[in-house]
This record gives sequence, C-alpha cells and structure tokens, in this order.
Amino acid sequence: MTENAIQLEQVRLSYSGKAVIETASCRIRKNAVTAVVGPSGSGKSTLLRTLCRMNDRLPGFQVEGSVIVLGRDIHDPTLNVYELRKRVGMVFQKPCVFPKSIVENVTFGLKFHASPNGKGFSERAEQSLRDVFLWDEVKDRLDDPANTLSQGQQQRLAMARTLAVDPEILLMDEPTSALDPKSSRAIEDLILSLKDRHTLVLVTHNVDQAERVAEDLICVDEKTICHKPCHPLPASVTLDPL
Ligand SMILES: Nc1ncnc2c1ncn2[C@@H]1O[C@H](COP(=O)(O)OP(=O)(O)OP(=O)(O)O)[C@@H](O)[C@H]1O
Ligand SMILES: [Mg+2]
Repeated sequence: MTENAIQLEQVRLSYSGKAVIETASCRIRKNAVTAVVGPSGSGKSTLLRTLCRMNDRLPGFQVEGSVIVLGRDIHDPTLNVYELRKRVGMVFQKPCVFPKSIVENVTFGLKFHASPNGKGFSERAEQSLRDVFLWDEVKDRLDDPANTLSQGQQQRLAMARTLAVDPEILLMDEPTSALDPKSSRAIEDLILSLKDRHTLVLVTHNVDQAERVAEDLICVDEKTICHKPCHPLPASVTLDPL
C-alpha cells in the first residue's frame, strides 16, 4: 500500500471563527505530485499554509481535527516547528524574497538547517539556482539585491531557497503564475524530476498544468476537500485554460 505523506481527518480551518474549510478528510501520497485546484477564495493557500504551520501567528486562525504530516500530528506540543519546516518547504503565491543579496537568499535556510560552518554553501546555492533555471541569468550578479530581479525571477529564487534545504515535502502555491510559458514548462520539468525523492503539492489554476504534472488531484470547494480522478480531469473541475 502506498504510504501517505499527509493525512487530514475531520479538519476545520477558520479565521476568527468563520470556517474556510468545514470538514475535510483527505490524504496526499508520498513521492507523488498532487495538484490542488478550486475556485479563488476556496482555501487552497490556507490549506498549504496549515501544513507547514505558517498560519500559527495569525490572530484568530484556528485548526481543528487531525493533521498528520510525515507521521506526526502537527499540533503535537513536542513537535519542533523549525524541524517541521525543514522537512516541509513552501513556495508562496506571492514571490517572497528577503532584503538580502541573490546568493544570500539561497543560502539563508542552509545556515539553520545544514552544517553551520558554511561548507559547501556556494555549491548548494549554484545547484539550486540551476535546478530552477535561474543560474545563467544571475551568475554574474549574485551579490546584487534580490529585489532587483523580475517577479518571475524572484519566484524562481524563492523556489531555489526552499529547494536548497532539500525538504521531503514541497508545497507550491501557484509557483508558475508569474512566469512565461517557457519558464513554466521548465518548472514543470523540475517538478517531475523531483517526484522520486520528494512529495510535491501544487496549487494551480491551470488545467493543462494539472494534467501534465499531477498523478493525484484534490479539489477545495464549498468548504470541503475531495479527491478527484486526475486523468482526464472531470468536467466538474473548472479551471482557467492556458
Ligand atoms: N489572514 C486572513 N484573515 C482572514 N481571512 C483570511 C485570511 N487569509 C485568507 N482569508 C480568507 O480565507 C478564504 C480562503 O483564502 P485563501 O487565500 O486560502 O484562498 P485561495 O483558494 O488560495 O484563493 P486564490 O485562488 O485566490 O489564491 C478567503 O475567503 C479569504 O478571504
Ligand atoms: Mg491562494
């Protein structure tokens, strides 16, 4: 039987008492690509942020029910949240770069998660930048501020930073929405190349992308989450065409 990387049982997610997800039970398989689809405002980003406890500090946000990630209840008081975030990386919907240089953005996480003496950092940074097809564009300006990059480049930089610490689960919230078709296809190829070693969860509004990369599909809608067959996508799943 395939192992699950993530399992939700009777989960309710709410902001200030108002439910975004009322009751949801679903599973995400290990070492597979799962696409998350659903209308705008249905709770896709909220779901992803919950899985790596990124909403912890939002006043009024509440998670009820059981959320098991890599075998651990994410609200187990003995769970180390930094350790969780090393194992579960997230690329956000809006490109998120730190006010630092391009290279420092990529090595940022390594300082906390890898060997503290910085050994091998530049090699890891180069590899991660190559993985997201950014290396050739930035190799001559690694010390420039990251915010001088275009939106699409910033999105790939954020992805490189997340990949650099080699998370077991990679959560990606519309990672290609700011990219041109060629870069989007390159990121899709990267996603496919990662799936043997990683569990990938991808929010997308792009029907063709979901069909190209995902083996599993979950739909967030009407305050619940359900599994759908992925190939072909059912007509009830309405996504934006490319
Ligand atoms: N910090 C917050 N405080 C209060 N409500 C919020 C907060 N963040 C999101 N919401 C609400 O929760 C609901 C789900 O938002 P979410 O961002 O998860 O949707 P989404 O499915 O990712 O949408 P999109 O496809 O537009 O990105 C929306 O009604 C939104 O207004
Ligand atoms: Mg969203």
